Amino acid sequence: MTEKIHIFDTTLRDGEQSPGASMNLDEKLQIAEVLDSMRVDIIEAGFPIASNGDFEAVKEVSKSVKNSTIAGLARASLKDIDRAWEAVQYAKSPRIHTFIATSPLHMKYKLKKTEEEVLEAIQKTVTHARNLCDNIEWSCEDGGRSELSFLYRCIELAIECGAKTINIPDTVGYTLPEEFGKIFKNVKENVPNIDKAILSTHTHNDLGLATANNVAAIKEGARQVECTINGMGERAGNSSLEEIVMTLKVKKDLMPFHTDIKTESIMKASRLVSSITGFPVQPNKAIVGANAFAHEAGIHQDGMLKHAGTYEIMTPESIGLNKSSLVLGKHSGKHAFSEKLKELGYEPGDNALMELFGRFKDLADKKKEIFEEDLIALAEDRSASYDEHIKFVSLEVNAGSVERPEASLKIEMADKIKSIKMNGNGPIDATFNAIKKLSSTDFKLKLYQVNAITAGTDAQGEVTVRLEDKDLSSQAKGSDPDIIVASAKAYINALNRLIFKKSKSIKENSSNLEIRGV
Ligand code: KIV
Ligand code: ZN
Repeated sequence: MTEKIHIFDTTLRDGEQSPGASMNLDEKLQIAEVLDSMRVDIIEAGFPIASNGDFEAVKEVSKSVKNSTIAGLARASLKDIDRAWEAVQYAKSPRIHTFIATSPLHMKYKLKKTEEEVLEAIQKTVTHARNLCDNIEWSCEDGGRSELSFLYRCIELAIECGAKTINIPDTVGYTLPEEFGKIFKNVKENVPNIDKAILSTHTHNDLGLATANNVAAIKEGARQVECTINGMGERAGNSSLEEIVMTLKVKKDLMPFHTDIKTESIMKASRLVSSITGFPVQPNKAIVGANAFAHEAGIHQDGMLKHAGTYEIMTPESIGLNKSSLVLGKHSGKHAFSEKLKELGYEPGDNALMELFGRFKDLADKKKEIFEEDLIALAEDRSASYDEHIKFVSLEVNAGSVERPEASLKIEMADKIKSIKMNGNGPIDATFNAIKKLSSTDFKLKLYQVNAITAGTDAQGEVTVRLEDKDLSSQAKGSDPDIIVASAKAYINALNRLIFKKSKSIKENSSNLEIRGV
């Protein structure tokens, strides 16, 4: 039996720190359930002190998850640690993850602490955490740029105070694989009590090296890997779970390790995270991109027909991807429809199923062939409907090269139908102007992107919209065979998310004031 690499997923914490990616409680619970069922060892569910919403999410995930260990993040502060424990204590297997920066740059400018003061903080906080919980992870933030001799002292002390996992992050995605691997090698050779802890690696993708750095760390002794679904995360993101897990699976010859991950659930997790956050997966993304298993060049197609191994290093089935196939038609019944959805990982309740079935029939009227991708878009479009403060009802657009484009839009708000006609520079501009006017909003449009879900001119269009208001942003998708209707749906979905986030942030600010007794 090969040695096990523990998978620590931080989609709900570091992943949620991607600008515009915040998720509500229900969405976090859905993601946690999928991570648990795919046998992720540790789920970092959030940063409980960050807000009441984060605290509730970590607490509810702790209560609901059946197998995975649940970690809550805390800075090197007793208050942070108490709050993290308050949230994770409900888990079957709770963990407190506490961290402090150890690089000269961070200590001098961010913490304004000397080395001795940082050591003192480690001693105080790790001991405190250990008195609450017997599973403590300690991280040296900006470990990739820390001085090795100081890192050894910090790690030895954290282990002495009870940390069972020592995580070394390349916080700013700065190191090269060889350089990062050497840190692990040196730590293993120079920290006297290192055998009492598991070494963990946590990498960021600023130079596109996150997964390569994780691989290098594993080769030099890391036995826990921190990662996120689709590589979500701060700035350029984190190392992605699917890349590291599949690398370990495919490269067994050179890396004699295994993970417990059920790799057939990878696509399901990827689609869920993408649909909840509204972050599309780039088509050429390793493992989960739409083109990851597509073969365009004739010479490749010829090779594939003769032997799949000629151009495929892993099978699409191993990540839960079925070949694009014609699945249902206009005469398919509700039972076949619900069975197919179940197979794709969606199990809507009775009412939602009826609504989806109605929309499937409408789609089948417009589009001769319905593919799995169409059903996924349909199911995700519904799960993306965010508290539906505003509902799309209908849209008619006049456009072309003669008249100024005009959109006639109907939406439902607070149980009332509202309609308006607006002009614009193009049909999309006219449609968005109509939504803004009816909803009395004018948020900044930061991203507008159109993709075709399947091939053919009758394919559904999938539109992604990101809206921004000061420090809050939201991103969402919409799909329809008509790309202008898909655009309106995506805009309304993003608007609902932003309105929800704005009201949540107002509530949280006022309750945080209450907590502080203001
Ligand atoms: O990147 C980082 O340093 C982190 C720590 C909090 C582990 O995310
Ligand atoms: Zn990080």
